[in-house]
Amino acid sequence: YKETILEHYNHPANSGVVKSPDVISKDYNPACGDVVEIQIKFEKKKIKEIKFQGQGCAISLSSVDILIDSVKNKSVDDVKNLSNENFLKKLGIELSPLRLKCALLGLKILKTAVYSHLGSK
Ligand code: FES
Repeated sequence: YKETILEHYNHPANSGVVKSPDVISKDYNPACGDVVEIQIKFEKKKIKEIKFQGQGCAISLSSVDILIDSVKNKSVDDVKNLSNENFLKKLGIELSPLRLKCALLGLKILKTAVYSHLGSK
């Protein structure tokens, strides 16, 4: 693993909960059972506060932490436009197909959260 992955895994700056979140989205990787939950508070159409909790491998949890860094204060449209490919490029590590699922778990949950927030309005 790259050092940044381990750094985010050992010291996840974005782990925790959001006070009175607008959306809570949770999902798991069926291949291993690892679980991640993301909580978000929106302001207008921007992500104002975002945190995660989870149990998973170094790749899944560090990816969520890195993902959250990259979407803080961004608009819901920015999240909608964030593709798997672009996010993987940001991570910058080579991953096997199984590990791809780990790396993309957070993005899947984040998108579900944003879409369910939009749908509830
Ligand atoms: Fe379970 Fe990576 S091994 S998410």
